[in-house]
Amino acid sequence: MTKKQEYTGDYPEKTLYLPGPTEVREDVIEAMAEPMFGHRMDRMTDLYTTIVEDTKDFLDTDQEVIVLTASGTEFWEATTLNLVEDRMLVPTSGAFSERQANVAERLGKTVDRIEYDWGQAVKPDDIRDALEASDEGYDAVGMVMNETSTGVRNPVEEIGDLLGDYPDTYFVVDAISCLGGDYVDIEDHNIDCIFTSTQKAFAMPPGLAVCTVSDDAYEREVEKGDSSWYGGFRRTLDYYDRKGQTHSTPAIPIMLAYRKQMKHMLEEGHDARDERHREMAEYTRDWAREHFDLYPEGGYESQTVTCVENTRGIDVAETVETVSEEYDFVFSSGYGDIGEESFRIGHMGEHTVESVRELTDAIEDVAGL
Ligand SMILES: Cc1ncc(COP(=O)(O)O)c(C=O)c1O
Repeated sequence: MTKKQEYTGDYPEKTLYLPGPTEVREDVIEAMAEPMFGHRMDRMTDLYTTIVEDTKDFLDTDQEVIVLTASGTEFWEATTLNLVEDRMLVPTSGAFSERQANVAERLGKTVDRIEYDWGQAVKPDDIRDALEASDEGYDAVGMVMNETSTGVRNPVEEIGDLLGDYPDTYFVVDAISCLGGDYVDIEDHNIDCIFTSTQKAFAMPPGLAVCTVSDDAYEREVEKGDSSWYGGFRRTLDYYDRKGQTHSTPAIPIMLAYRKQMKHMLEEGHDARDERHREMAEYTRDWAREHFDLYPEGGYESQTVTCVENTRGIDVAETVETVSEEYDFVFSSGYGDIGEESFRIGHMGEHTVESVRELTDAIEDVAGL
C-alpha cells in the first residue's frame, strides 16, 4: 500500500531536461495566478477562442483545433473511438507506440502491428505493404512521430504522402513529444489528426491536450455515429462553433498559461522554433557521438529528445542522481528495460544550445568523461 509522503513545499529548484515536463517561462507560470472566473462567462470565450485560433496560426493549419483538459493520452482513446470502426494499423517501435496499439485493443478494435526493434524507425514501404496485403483495409493508421522511449523521429511526412493513395484510411499522429519543436506541414502530408500535450515542446504546465482535426475526420465521426463522449470531435468542435467555449469545465489557470506561452511561440514563429530545436539536437548528437553513441537508427534521430547509447557502461541511475544533487539539473535514464543501456536528454521548449551545454558539461564532470 502506498503511504502518504507529505508535500512540504520545501524542494530545491531543478532545471528540467526531461522529455517533458520541461522548463516553463516565469511569466507563463505567473499568468496562472488570476482570480477565478466562470467557464460560461464572456471572458472564457475570449480566452478559449484566443488559444484555439493562436494555435492554428502557430501550427500553420486550417484544420480545427481542440484544446482539452486532459493529458495527451486522451487523444489515443478519442481518435480511435471517433475514427475506427474495426481495424487499425499501428507500427510499434518503442513503449509509446506499443501503448497506442494497446489502447486501441482495449477499446475493442482489431489492431495489426508492424513490429520493429527498439531504436528502429518505421519504414514507409512496410506501411504500404501492409495496406496492400489487407483485404479489408484499415480505418486508420495510428503512429508515434517521436518515439520518446528510443529518441527515434519517424518519417510521418513520407507515410502521410503514401496514405494519399488510401483515402478511406485516416492518418492519426501522436506528436506528443515533438509538436512545437519539430515542424510538420499537417495538410501537405494528409494528416487527419495530430496531437500533443502541453508539458512537452509547447513548454507549458501539464494538463491540456491539443489535437487538430481534418474536415474528413470530422465527417467520418459524424457518419460513424458513435464516438468518444469527452473527446468527440463533434461535441467539442460544435460547442466551439456555437459558443467559443469547451463542453465541460476546463483547467482555466492552465489555459491562462497557454495563452501567454502561445504568444511567445507566435513571436518566435514556427520556422525559428524548428531551427532552434534542430541546433540543440545537432549539438546534443555531436556530444553523444564524441562520448558515447546514439541509440536510434542513423538518420532518424529526434529533434527534441536525444537517446544516448551508454557505450561506456556508466552507472546511469547514479549519474542522473548525482547531476541532480550537485547541479540541480534533471535528465532521464533510459526507458523501462533500456534504463541502464541508455539515457535521454530532453532539449525541447525553451531550452537553447547554451542551456543544453550546461547539462552536458555537468554530465562530463560527474561521469568523469
Ligand atoms: C510519444 C508519447 N505519447 C504519449 C505520451 C503520454 O502523454 P501524456 O502523459 O501527456 O498523456 C507520451 C508521454 O511522454 C509520449 O512521449
